[in-house]
Amino acid sequence: MLTLGINTKPKLSNETFGLLRDIIYARCGISFSEAKKYFLETRLVRRLEEMNLKSFEDYYYFLTYDSQREKEIINLFNSIVTNETSFFRDLPQLEAFRRGVVPKVIEDREKSGSKTLKMWSAACSTGEEPLTLGMMLLEDGLQIKGWNIDILASDISDNVLRPASAGVYEKYSLRNTPESYLKKYFQASGESYTATKKVRDLVRYRKINLMDPIEMRMVRGIDIIFCRNVLIYFDDNSKKKVIAHLYDSLNKGGYLFVGFSESLHNITRLFRPVSIERSVVYQKV
Ligand SMILES: C[S@@+](CC[C@H](N)C(=O)[O-])C[C@H]1O[C@@H](n2cnc3c(N)ncnc32)[C@H](O)[C@@H]1O
Repeated sequence: MLTLGINTKPKLSNETFGLLRDIIYARCGISFSEAKKYFLETRLVRRLEEMNLKSFEDYYYFLTYDSQREKEIINLFNSIVTNETSFFRDLPQLEAFRRGVVPKVIEDREKSGSKTLKMWSAACSTGEEPLTLGMMLLEDGLQIKGWNIDILASDISDNVLRPASAGVYEKYSLRNTPESYLKKYFQASGESYTATKKVRDLVRYRKINLMDPIEMRMVRGIDIIFCRNVLIYFDDNSKKKVIAHLYDSLNKGGYLFVGFSESLHNITRLFRPVSIERSVVYQKV
């Protein structure tokens, strides 16, 4: 007998899309336009399967009423965020950091009698960005000159923070890493590379949602923030909230790097855009 294939895959209706979109927006600031409905559907259908749920409506009810809903919100974040990153990403910005920003901050810190440099990679994904910053500072001999380097690396997703703290990477994420750094700061084993303890010790990892005022309030006294390639997921309203939180976390005169294709234009006037080594960096005035 010929059996006609019945497509039992759950379908996301426009109405439920709207409900799920509102939850996501309220909790992590990521805004999904109508055009992203298919993206959300394909990402979440896997989650439904894992949970043995038959429809997106059931999933919505789970997220709204179930006693385990807070745990599921985390799984939801993990399913929808994009974690693309690599070592030495957008080199011109890193040169601006190294040649322009770090020397200025060091000068200021020295005047205030402190020898601690506090940095924050505020959406660090699997950790390539904070380790890149750490390696650059080691390379410039900051620790040898008696500086204490403290890099906070945070993300909303545990799925990325776990591998980040393990510090093991495939060659692909190291594709832009200079050979001399590879030799000095990684131990190769087969196809994988483990960051040395010396670099890893500079970085501490924490789960922080950029949209959560309570979590954000815990971070203060930062000299340099990297918050790159995450603002693109937010609408202007969410961007304004995140930027206001980051502003409060920075020391006066501190610097904020956003992604190469991101800008604070029309988002805030609290920061002064400064052009350093052909990159725009935002300074807290
Ligand atoms: C594309 S990666 C950027 C990684 C790195 N900053 C870079 O530029 O290579 C974006 C990261 O932002 C994180 N993210 C998304 N929404 C967030 C939120 N509300 N709070 C904290 N992190 C968030 C994602 O989990 C993801 O790891």
